[in-house]
Amino acid sequence: MITINENFMKLQAGYLFPEIGRRVGAFAAENPDAAIIKLGIGDVTEPLAPAIVDAMHKAVDEMALSSSFHGYGPEQGYNFLAEAIIENDYRSRGVELGTDEVFISDGSKCDTGNFQEIFGLDNVIAVTDPVYPVYVDTNVMAGRTGGAIENGRYGGIVYMPCTAENNFVPALPTEPVDMIYLCYPNNPTGMVASKEELKKWVDFARENKAIILFDAAYEAFICDPEIPHSIYEIDGAKEVAVEFRSFSKTAGFTGTRCAFTVVPKELKAYKANGETADVNAVWNRRHCTKFNGVSYVTQAGAAAVYSDEGKKQVAETIAMYMNNAAVIRKSLGEFGYDVYGGVNAPYVWFKAPNDMGSWEFFDVLLNKVNIVGTPGVGFGASGEGYFRLSAFNDPDVVKEAMARFAKL
Ligand code: MLT
Repeated sequence: MITINENFMKLQAGYLFPEIGRRVGAFAAENPDAAIIKLGIGDVTEPLAPAIVDAMHKAVDEMALSSSFHGYGPEQGYNFLAEAIIENDYRSRGVELGTDEVFISDGSKCDTGNFQEIFGLDNVIAVTDPVYPVYVDTNVMAGRTGGAIENGRYGGIVYMPCTAENNFVPALPTEPVDMIYLCYPNNPTGMVASKEELKKWVDFARENKAIILFDAAYEAFICDPEIPHSIYEIDGAKEVAVEFRSFSKTAGFTGTRCAFTVVPKELKAYKANGETADVNAVWNRRHCTKFNGVSYVTQAGAAAVYSDEGKKQVAETIAMYMNNAAVIRKSLGEFGYDVYGGVNAPYVWFKAPNDMGSWEFFDVLLNKVNIVGTPGVGFGASGEGYFRLSAFNDPDVVKEAMARFAKL
């Protein structure tokens, strides 16, 4: 008799964004004339930059000739892309990496979800609350947690509340933890962590032989020069941190799929007998076994992000999205909402009015002004009463959304 992996039975609600999609679909079916504005899931709306499209076209032409055709590439990605990443994203910030420390993949969602696989099931995970649901759900699926408890939480996980009081950067855990998930600039709150704050986490991880799984998918949206883009800007971080980066939001690759994960050679985990294990080698083994690499055409497109033209074009699009974030922040502030984030990240986080719950406000927005956002509670108990708007849309659409908010 085939049995199911019971850990999957512990999962509570469906994944957040399909659930939102389902509700919006039902509303649209009943209200076919409603002009719905989507500021929910953080999906980009601008097309790929011309430099990226040109590089992809050239790569397709190469694939059409036997002399330049590419079959299986290296599972870890082509060196031309890893070298461009190192030069532009790391060396420029004083961080040296080898190409064998960069693993190209088809997305940070997959990488942040998969990475836990190489660690023991007895490790205790710590997550911020609110949190990107992938970190939690994949650990539930793996069997690293207990069952569902109150408020959508799971037993055995250390939740670190992020609130307006702590400026959405959590306090260090007071109990032992082994795997710490941090995401800065943060999804969903749009807030950032300073170098001093990240240093506390790096020092904590070094003292406690813990590992930090650092999701930096939104680093390209940082505008404040004082805010670190990489955790490796902190001394000692290479010994304790993996970093996830993505071309999805940075360069419009949500549909094209390309990301990368940095696993420094210095990073160690421990065997039951106390000996050290080389995390880079273990991840490499896992990656080569389960993944056959991102397509050549996609990697050629991603490398073009780092060309002179590509950098300029991508920066223009990011500036446009960040201008949207500024418009949302300013308007909501004027309408009297308590507003956070949106300065160094494409997400604006705010308190729903009149002590409304997150889903209640979701329904009000959808029904009254036909705007889709993301209920804060979908990211965790501490998100209850909060709401997230994404800045990924056309500026005119964002202006129209704010005009509708004014009518609420
Ligand atoms: C979000 O809206 O939180 C993101 O788009 C989710 C993701 O990147 O998977």
